[in-house]
Amino acid sequence: MRVHAITLGCQMSAADGARIMDELGRRGLTPAPDPDSADAVVLTTCAVRAHAEQRALSLIGRLGAWRRADARRLLVVAGCVAERRGQGLIRRFPHVDLVIGARQADRYAELIYEAVTAKNMCRASPEIGGTPSEARHIGARLQTSLQRSPEKPGTYSSRPLANICGNIIIMRGCDCRCAYCVVPLVRGPEVCRPPRDIVAEARAKTAAGARELTLLGQRVNAYSWEEGGRRTDFADLLRELDAVPGLLRLRFMSPHPDRLDERVLDALAECARPAPFIHLPAQSGCDRILRLMRRGYTRAQFLRAADRLRRRVPGVVLSTDIIVGFSTETDAEFRESLELLTELRPATTFAFKYSAREGTPAAELEDDVPRETKERRLAELNGLVEELTLTALRTQVGKTVEVLAETPTFGRTGDGFKVKWANPARPGSLVRVRVRGATRRTLLGDSHEP
Ligand code: 5AD
Ligand code: SF4
Repeated sequence: MRVHAITLGCQMSAADGARIMDELGRRGLTPAPDPDSADAVVLTTCAVRAHAEQRALSLIGRLGAWRRADARRLLVVAGCVAERRGQGLIRRFPHVDLVIGARQADRYAELIYEAVTAKNMCRASPEIGGTPSEARHIGARLQTSLQRSPEKPGTYSSRPLANICGNIIIMRGCDCRCAYCVVPLVRGPEVCRPPRDIVAEARAKTAAGARELTLLGQRVNAYSWEEGGRRTDFADLLRELDAVPGLLRLRFMSPHPDRLDERVLDALAECARPAPFIHLPAQSGCDRILRLMRRGYTRAQFLRAADRLRRRVPGVVLSTDIIVGFSTETDAEFRESLELLTELRPATTFAFKYSAREGTPAAELEDDVPRETKERRLAELNGLVEELTLTALRTQVGKTVEVLAETPTFGRTGDGFKVKWANPARPGSLVRVRVRGATRRTLLGDSHEP
């Protein structure tokens, strides 16, 4: 029984896709490199912008011929589009066998496995999973088939994801009500995992070879768990994970700027593992738009939070998200986002054209910025982003940087820069590389030294 996974969307979606395959692997299913060599296709979808949802719908449509060619095949649609559209997906695409919404994410593998066995396509019993080392091996191979692009969440490259870097979902859902965002509607309220499960997963992943872990959550720093009268917050969790043997780096995605409190800053300053690279989504540089977006901070408050972070964690490198063309945004207000970026100096920025999502508070406002204006603003903003990225990369040229090798000749620094070098290193090792130049996104190094 062979399964092909296609994952669209954010890191959370990629982590769900990887976990599905990992767990199916443990139950004896094997990965397939493409639908034609697979008995089942699992598509994990994203609904954050209309474009992402359209992409999922068009893929589902195109998988119709594959599914109809053999009645024993199984097509599963999981994730945010599955949650949003539910049964409607099967009505529109009768060739879909199973729709599992994002709120069932913890049960994906179990439900898929049930469908597989119900179809009698699989001889495996739930006990089949091979030896633990075989199971891990399958997991690692399956992860590589997902091919998440390391530089841009939600995009895919041909570079396999090494299992040197792992993800851990620490919470799901979001209690924020940012006006543009469909996530709280689709994924529901925040639900956190117990700290002992997270620490156990971190230990298991590092024992299996992971050296860097990324904690994932829609609002990761809102993490909170209470048990026996004791509360564990995000800062406590960082400290607990700091002690996991074999772990070299700890990252997290994405924190909300207004939850970056002193306790988190203290933990970042005092712990050894958290990497000095933080994604801090601003969304806009204009107070009126931030208010309409219901982000809960002003431009000055956001910049102060970034400043506090820079003071407490010297050398920290930032990245951010900006939405252009939000309802009623004027050209002058868009310029305020450009100014915010110039002031913030992020090394990377993910910029998006505003996409009105049905059911969100912002969808009540008229989506009145013409498409061409959004495109023009996006292009202008991306021009500035390129410049800022280049400036950040150039500050590294001439330095000797410490890199975690993800492949023999590629890795990242703690502060998030991608580095390539010539002579092979052992994946998982820390190497020192003298930077002699940079492309648009990557530092180029001399030969590494251990
Ligand atoms: N339109 C455009 N961009 C959006 N994002 C979230 N919702 C929307 C939307 N409706 C962007 C935000 C968020 C990132 C994951 O996606 O910038 O931080
Ligand atoms: Fe969406 Fe805002 Fe929650 Fe992020 S914090 S997931 S943008 S509602």
